[in-house]
Amino acid sequence: MCGIVGYIGYKKATPILINGLLRLEYRGYDSAGIATIENNEIVVIKNKGRVNTLANLDGIDKLEGTVGIAHTRWATHGKPSKENSHPHLDNSKSIAVVHNGIIENYHELKKFLTEKGYKFLSTTDSEVIPNLIHYYFNQDSKNDENRLLRAVKNTCKDLKGSYAIEILSIYNKDKMIVARKDSPLVIGRGLKESYIASDIPAILSYTKDFYLLDDNEIVELSKDKIKFYNNELEEFEKPIKSIEWGAISVEKDGYEDFMLKEINEQPRAIRETVGAKLDNGKIEIEGLEFSKEYLESLNKIYIVACGTAMHAGLVAKSTFEKFCKIPVEVDIASEFRYRDPLIDEKTLCIYISQSGETADTIAALKLAKSKGAKTLAITNVIGSSITREADYSIYTHAGPEIAVASTKAYTSQVVLLIIVGMYFAEKLERIDVSILKNLKSDILKLPSQIEEILKSTNQIQEFARKVYKEKDMFFLGRGTDYAVSLEGSLKLKEISYIHSESYAAGELKHGPIALIENGVTVVATMTNPDLVEKSISNIQEVVTRGAKVFVITSEDIKNDGLSWVIKIPKTNTLISPILSVIPMQLFAYYISKEKGLDVDKPRNLAKSVTVE
Ligand code: G6P
Repeated sequence: MCGIVGYIGYKKATPILINGLLRLEYRGYDSAGIATIENNEIVVIKNKGRVNTLANLDGIDKLEGTVGIAHTRWATHGKPSKENSHPHLDNSKSIAVVHNGIIENYHELKKFLTEKGYKFLSTTDSEVIPNLIHYYFNQDSKNDENRLLRAVKNTCKDLKGSYAIEILSIYNKDKMIVARKDSPLVIGRGLKESYIASDIPAILSYTKDFYLLDDNEIVELSKDKIKFYNNELEEFEKPIKSIEWGAISVEKDGYEDFMLKEINEQPRAIRETVGAKLDNGKIEIEGLEFSKEYLESLNKIYIVACGTAMHAGLVAKSTFEKFCKIPVEVDIASEFRYRDPLIDEKTLCIYISQSGETADTIAALKLAKSKGAKTLAITNVIGSSITREADYSIYTHAGPEIAVASTKAYTSQVVLLIIVGMYFAEKLERIDVSILKNLKSDILKLPSQIEEILKSTNQIQEFARKVYKEKDMFFLGRGTDYAVSLEGSLKLKEISYIHSESYAAGELKHGPIALIENGVTVVATMTNPDLVEKSISNIQEVVTRGAKVFVITSEDIKNDGLSWVIKIPKTNTLISPILSVIPMQLFAYYISKEKGLDVDKPRNLAKSVTVE
């Protein structure tokens, strides 16, 4: 993970870099550092701790340089410490580098450099990069203006693994070099200035015009020029893209935390996701064109993702199978990529990723492509790595999600997946059109139904207050209620550090009921009228054994005798998770607040997992 920012132009770099780092803290926040060029010298200021700690370190306010690089770290190699923080310098202190990614062959490179006399101060993989650049720079007998660029090119060729790097050097004081492979990097263009960052929201308040770097590209930036090279240093032109997200959407906007803001943004996000897709007679999705013949040829659909995105796939599975009559398997990307799945040209693989940068999901997509399957990416980030690999890409349009724990991305992913399932169903004509029509109208009601749930959060807060000191909790549900319970349980773990398990309610008797004793908390979801009697029996089984039960149910379902009940508006069971997840998100949120934890940046977690 890790986040990187850079600036080159005519303004003082430090405030811009700190501001960018603060916006990238969701990518990592155990150390932070900055390097600028001051009077022909590289000055590095860094330490473990958050960006706010960096902003207060001695000397930072004295930095005047107009070229600078910065980094916020999520430790992979070497514990958080000053030495392991970025930027790293080469031995001669002439080259500074920040790096996001993992250098897999760093042992080998370190050995090579050590034999040449280089010394290492950190235990990171990244420190080999400035030293290797220095080595190649010294090896080059041609002392022209491209000497540093050639050294970077040779270094990149030696690096195995993933990297997004920014390089500052006193050899080229008015320039910066950046490069990427399998880690995201974007360049924002201003007038006589450029901004570099791991993602667009970090620098969106400065510009709306971006270059999205692709793998194996090297870029040399000066104040008023940006030169793009491939890994053979052949120069090429790159198109610029304008991004519409307003900078305001990456501010907290009066909310206490990004997570609370993003929970409240769900009605708007879903409206954006649905857009005009359901407006005409037949569903239309920009970027998606599958023929009836192709869909009829399919014998399997895989939905592959990580974390919350995978949970969105689990909810949508029922819709695809019911409406398209095609078997659907939902898999975790890190499992899928290594288990030799059965894939051929009759398989469609759908990949879901909020960031579009998750390393395992991208690798799982490349695998399916190599086996001849068509690939469809569902993501929230235009131009993200996954969209550049997939045959088709469609967007949730949920706006930037900053809190590590995903909320609006999840609901908009479920909505978009369901619409894709309906789009396939319309083409396949394997289901009654009236069923599709009713579901379309239910989807259109979702935003106002969420608004309704968000109006009465007191009861959820009260229950959270009652149970926030617990060590364990259980989530139960059947069918899509089980699928959403997995997400509810994950939210709780992520931000409240309470251990929780989610079980299919019918499995209760096969083991977990042994753990139910006086005082244990159970969150039970029952929104499916066809399964309600069975769910109530399961609830009674845990109540009898002394559990405190928090029930999430639909307003049309009777719930006599249960004390803590949250009612959600009635909707189709296939999409009820989009409503029932809201109380679960709020429950986890309020527990985290009661415990005084950092809701937006939970320990050990990063928003975008760009390493394996
Ligand atoms: C991390 C995040 C999760 C997210 C998962 C997949 O674990 O903390 O919130 O669901 O990565 O991320 P993606 O960007 O691929 O959806």
